[in-house]
Amino acid sequence: MADSWIDLRSDTVTKPSPEMRAAMHAAEVGDDVYKEDPTVIKLEEQTAAMLGHEAALFCPSGTMTNQICIKAHTQPADEMICEEFCHVFNWEGGGPAALSNISCKTIRGDHGLIDVEMLQDAIRPPNDHYPRTKLLSLENTHNRCGGRVQPFTVVKELHDWTRKNNIIFHLDGARLWNAIVASGIEAKAWGQLFDSVSVCYSKGLGAPIGSAIVGPKEFVAKCRRIRKRFGGGMRQAGTIAAGALYALNNNIHRLKEDHEKAKVLGEAIQKTPGLKMDQPTVETNIVWFHVDPKLAPVPEFVAALKERKILIHTSGLNLMRVVTHLDVSMEQVKKTAEIIHEVTNKLTKGKI
Ligand SMILES: Cc1ncc(COP(=O)(O)O)c(C=O)c1O
Repeated sequence: MADSWIDLRSDTVTKPSPEMRAAMHAAEVGDDVYKEDPTVIKLEEQTAAMLGHEAALFCPSGTMTNQICIKAHTQPADEMICEEFCHVFNWEGGGPAALSNISCKTIRGDHGLIDVEMLQDAIRPPNDHYPRTKLLSLENTHNRCGGRVQPFTVVKELHDWTRKNNIIFHLDGARLWNAIVASGIEAKAWGQLFDSVSVCYSKGLGAPIGSAIVGPKEFVAKCRRIRKRFGGGMRQAGTIAAGALYALNNNIHRLKEDHEKAKVLGEAIQKTPGLKMDQPTVETNIVWFHVDPKLAPVPEFVAALKERKILIHTSGLNLMRVVTHLDVSMEQVKKTAEIIHEVTNKLTKGKI
């Protein structure tokens, strides 16, 4: 895509920087199915250590890491508790049902955030009629609910609740890095609250491919076997692991810039008559918003922005999302804020 385009559809659209490409070019590689790729081993060790766990497993995607963890933690006819708008339930192709033969008990969060109070009736009684409640999956930050950060103290209470009730606790941490930067709480403190964590290198961190599972050694060995069965065993994967390592070593702290850019967009949306933010606050790099359907249909709004070389994501009839990342500058974000304002004015002329 030419440089003049401003692509705010997702933080997955970034391209590797020249420095990242150089690191990938220079990577030492081996066959990772034989556990002989030194760069993959380095990435796995570093990721596990950062999150305070024994081991990690490099995988092609966040969907695969989540679904492998769910499969490794459960038996058919078990049940997983999760927030109703979470990624593992809504956007992973029905993975829990199709791949693990489990059901999901969804809980309505407060704009995505869940707490112990909301889980009071979530555990199934021990009765032959019911599935067995096995697992709680949390998403942090929460994508569909506007990149919100689950507060650390609440997550600690959720952890204590899982210990008390013998429930496994999994984290979909595709954007845990954003939560770490926004909360100022280090990776290890977050990591220690969970039995397994999925993290992604290819969202805000800007690597082209890759996610990892972290957890206890024995659990990760089980996941490795499932990864093979799912077709996710990779050979000279050091080429891509080097991009992920570069991202881990260079691109975490700069996420605060993405959060500042998202705030600028959030403020512009709130100030524009006819637009409404679909979340109470902008905490990280994601902003969901509505346009009043009586004023302008979403496809027209999106098309008008595209004409001005701005790409945004739409979901459902009335919802739109912008996501900031390392390939969009503050200058481009400010320009986008002005154009959003202009386009809304033009489309809604005389209707407000
Ligand atoms: C919260 C969350 N979890 C998991 C995923 C899945 O990641 P992938 O696209 O690498 O499969 C995404 C993707 O955007 C996500 O937003």
